[in-house]
Amino acid sequence: MERPLAGRLIVLGITGSIAAYKAAELARLLIAAGAEVQVAMSRTATAFIGPLTLETLTRRTVMLDPLELLPDRRIGHIVAADSADAVVVAPATARWLGAMANGLADDVVTATCLATTAPVIVAPAMDGEMYLHPATQGNVERLRGFGYAIVEPETGPLASGQVARGRLAEPAAILGAVVGALAGRPVREPDPERRPPAAREVRDDLAGLHLVVTAGGTAEPIDPVRFIGNRSTGRMGVAIAEAALARGARVTAILGMTSVPDPDGATIVRAPTAAAMRMAVIAALPEADALVMAAAVADFRPRAVADGKLARGAGLVLELEPTEDILAEASGLAHGRAERAADPSARPVLVGFAAETGSLARAPEKAARKRVDLLVANDVAEPGSGFGTETNRVTLVTPGREPEPWPLLAKREVADRLLDRIAAVRAALDAQSAERPAADAPADGSER
Ligand SMILES: Cc1cc2nc3c(=O)[nH]c(=O)nc-3n(C[C@H](O)[C@H](O)[C@H](O)COP(=O)(O)O)c2cc1C
Repeated sequence: MERPLAGRLIVLGITGSIAAYKAAELARLLIAAGAEVQVAMSRTATAFIGPLTLETLTRRTVMLDPLELLPDRRIGHIVAADSADAVVVAPATARWLGAMANGLADDVVTATCLATTAPVIVAPAMDGEMYLHPATQGNVERLRGFGYAIVEPETGPLASGQVARGRLAEPAAILGAVVGALAGRPVREPDPERRPPAAREVRDDLAGLHLVVTAGGTAEPIDPVRFIGNRSTGRMGVAIAEAALARGARVTAILGMTSVPDPDGATIVRAPTAAAMRMAVIAALPEADALVMAAAVADFRPRAVADGKLARGAGLVLELEPTEDILAEASGLAHGRAERAADPSARPVLVGFAAETGSLARAPEKAARKRVDLLVANDVAEPGSGFGTETNRVTLVTPGREPEPWPLLAKREVADRLLDRIAAVRAALDAQSAERPAADAPADGSER
């Protein structure tokens, strides 16, 4: 089958005409022609056809408001306008033609058209007298003057009972106008990251993987009621746990002090102090296919914990001692196990997090020293990054490679991208194991 719109992104604008139901058929034809379709609807259009129908057909969230932001906080209609190969408005109401002719961007369809340099195709639909009115005709001419392609309405029976020109052109004819407008043009923005996000595939690509993730801060006791803590909420680690669960992984979440809900479906292990977290990580290590250390573990703890509540008195000097470096220790144990077994796959994928304030220059050295496969570094002092935020801007450090700065993303998106990389490292370790020379593998299959 010919797919004349393969790789294209088409924004389908729908406004409040009785013909709006035909937009579902047009969406289907555009998709069958190879396009990805992003629907933008006026509020009135939702009285004629439900966004649910269009979201199901297009697998994208319908845009309904020019004030809407995407999950990563980009402006929805601007992203759509900047990445669309074409915008097709079908059906276009008399009101919309007037708004567009005058550049009134108070609905998301007009806002998208104003913001785009892509071809715009407009298919009006309305009562016969409305279409013939000089105001409407003037607006249509104005749109032609913008370079917009007008797919004229057809003559036929209308919703009013009248037989007149005003019936929305057939979806196949509108599709033809879109294909014609794009002939010979390259795909405008092939990078999916620069398009409005498509719904994630329902995946179980991590089925069979056991992920151990730490999250939250630790609380190092001073006396029975007080502790030294930090600002970690656990949001990033919990997002990783939830994303992994959604992709079919088995998850053990080792949680310090968190202020977000526990990941539903994970095995939860409470570890409120650095010492408890160390024990929990070491205990979980032999069963882990991947270990992600996203918790903010204290670097120091009071050397002595008072038995009773300390009185205010004249003041207090606390002597602190360093805590164990859990990541370094877990990494050493894991690498030791793989080396003894002479099997690169006999250890989990090791992922560390490094929260810094200011420069991330220390991160590559840290990744190499701790022998992790991946280190996620972020500047927690930067706006939109770090503790308690919904978003994060991280740099992924892979030993031996240039650090990769990722854009500001929702934490769930960071989680999914990180899981993609963890899955790739897991696959590489398993492949190395399968390829190792026969002499390296113990004949009886046992660990050495
Ligand atoms: C049942 C019904 C059908 C309508 N069909 C049309 C139509 O085909 N074309 C049109 O321009 N207006 C039509 N209207 C009027 C529009 O819905 C109205 O002008 C509305 O403000 C348009 O909003 P919008 O352009 O923001 O979607 C219809 C109204 C009703 C109640």
